[in-house]
Amino acid sequence: GGDDGYRLWLKYDLIDDVAKRQAYARAAQFIALTGSGPVLRSAAEELQTGLRGLLGKTVPIISSVGSRTGGIVLRAGAPAATPPANREGYQIAADRNTLTISSPSEAGVLYGAFALLRQMQTRQPLDGLSLASSPKVQYRMLNHWDNVDGTIERGYAGGSLWKWYELPERIDPRYRDYARANASLGINGTVINNVNASARFMTAEYLQKVAALAAVFRPYGIRVYLSVYFAAPKTLGKLKTSDPLDPEVRKWWNDKVKEIYQIIPDFGGLLVKANSEGEPGPQDYGRTHADGANMLAEAMKPYDGVVIWRAFVYKADPKADRFRAAHEEFTPLDGQFDPKVIVQVKNGPIDFQPREPFSPLFGSMPKTPLGMEFQLTQEYLGFATHLVYEAPLFKECLDADTYASGKGSTVARVIDGSLHGYRTDGPSRTLMAGVANTGSNLNWTGHPMAQANWYAFGRLAWDHTLSAEAIAREWIGMTLTHNPQATSRIANLMLRSRDIYVDYNTPMGLSRPWTGVHFAPEPWQARSPRPDWTAVYYHRADSVGVGFDRTATGSNALAQYRPEVQQQWNDPETCPLPYLLWFHHVPWTKKLSTGRTLWDELCNRFYTGADSVRWMQQEWAAVKPALDPALHADVAARLVTQHREAIWWRDAWVLYLQTFAKQPIPAPFKKPE
Ligand code: GCU
Repeated sequence: GGDDGYRLWLKYDLIDDVAKRQAYARAAQFIALTGSGPVLRSAAEELQTGLRGLLGKTVPIISSVGSRTGGIVLRAGAPAATPPANREGYQIAADRNTLTISSPSEAGVLYGAFALLRQMQTRQPLDGLSLASSPKVQYRMLNHWDNVDGTIERGYAGGSLWKWYELPERIDPRYRDYARANASLGINGTVINNVNASARFMTAEYLQKVAALAAVFRPYGIRVYLSVYFAAPKTLGKLKTSDPLDPEVRKWWNDKVKEIYQIIPDFGGLLVKANSEGEPGPQDYGRTHADGANMLAEAMKPYDGVVIWRAFVYKADPKADRFRAAHEEFTPLDGQFDPKVIVQVKNGPIDFQPREPFSPLFGSMPKTPLGMEFQLTQEYLGFATHLVYEAPLFKECLDADTYASGKGSTVARVIDGSLHGYRTDGPSRTLMAGVANTGSNLNWTGHPMAQANWYAFGRLAWDHTLSAEAIAREWIGMTLTHNPQATSRIANLMLRSRDIYVDYNTPMGLSRPWTGVHFAPEPWQARSPRPDWTAVYYHRADSVGVGFDRTATGSNALAQYRPEVQQQWNDPETCPLPYLLWFHHVPWTKKLSTGRTLWDELCNRFYTGADSVRWMQQEWAAVKPALDPALHADVAARLVTQHREAIWWRDAWVLYLQTFAKQPIPAPFKKPE
């Protein structure tokens, strides 16, 4: 026995509080389906499945409600009393003993059905229920970095979910469960292949396989997207060039996109990594990112699809500051992109570090829809071994103020389109993407607690105003336990986990001390296949101090932010300590606001960070009676590994930095382990 984690937050175990169960059952005596569309059908079936588990009985799906009351009515297309803000929004209203879930679209009803189930899963009352919610972002998607050979780039939860060899004939039942989990969060798109793309996905053979996946996802309101290999006209099409201004190349893409839409009529669009980390792109032909993106947009013109162009670019130049690269390359192109293009920007300027300042691109391209790219897979956050709840990281970025149009110009308002008013002319193009942490492991994410990161991403893509704590509590209630004390303890543990990780891994703005696979600490690394891919490039430790000077005396990357933001960070005396070494090269002996010298403060954080994993273990031990034993044991074991590795990272950094600082480890920490 034991909970294997496969059901994620869609567990639907029988509600053991009989009074509560009966109250829910009285409100859910039938599910009335007014309409026959496939997504609406999914809504009814999901409700039926959920209620079967929660209430222990099969609630009938009926097609006409007549004069019956005491049930749930699903209504798509009908104008609600207060229509939701957009097509995918829903309203749940209790009226004369009937719960009506309505939306302008079938997908909205499906999201409303999951919201109603969530009410019951978190044991909320249904009496007088009145819920209305609309997604704040239009494209809410997962990006899978999955390869043709079944491996996943930066995947730590097994192999790919997609079984290319079996497709299109055999449909693994798991594809449907994947779609259900996403739909329950409002995720409406999935890019199924790696941004380091193989052109093979664009062959007729693979498009049939992709179409088979699209057919499974369609009834859950999820559209399929593909990452494209920019040089496909050459490699697949046997053309002499992939120059985006070449008429034959443009024709090749037009024909290819037409072929895709013939096979997948609701295809979502293309995701492109170009001129980035060795991938081909328009710059190979002296063209710009806009030239490349607009060529693909032209091919997409007849269809309801988009081109998502990534801004993750930097040159292999150890003298340049990688921090500056995306802003330098993309801001001059603002206003040049076709309206079908969204530029997808990673949350920070470098690469998904445990803590980064927000990317200076946010707020700097008012004429270009910018999408957010977060990373759910824990490439720099301890893979599937370390417990790191990422919602605080996401929120920190979304809530950051760009000051692009004065105070309150948060990154979230760039992303949801409200700041630059993307929605006023033409269709809204707003996007939030999460690099998926799913894989073929039975529990989907390897670390059972990493399911919360998938969950939190989806909830925030729908509504970025939700708090990290509210999402954690919701997830715990649906996934782990209803015990209030245990819930508070676990929520607290989750909320602190990211800061603890930062402390033992890369405190105060240190970054990227890893070897190639991004796990083993190697801050001394000075050689690599690319001159800028060394640890010493990032932390700049020397006999004077440590940290990257990005003020006017250094790379001046700070100048890419608005003056108000610069002001927060450009003075080492007042720069908040979590960002200090991102922007300043600070002497070892410098006294900080904590009263400690830089050296002592670094030691303090490394040591208390690693010690805090012991605290995490204690907290986890304390909630044992409230949790499934197998799940509890799984996480407890991972915490043991996490503690060992936290010490490893701490020691690697401290002993290495000590060779420059030439100071003793402060007394309280000098004890042997
Ligand atoms: C990181 C990651 C790569 C990935 C790249 C990207 O550098 O390590 O594996 O391809 O980001 O986002 O394109």
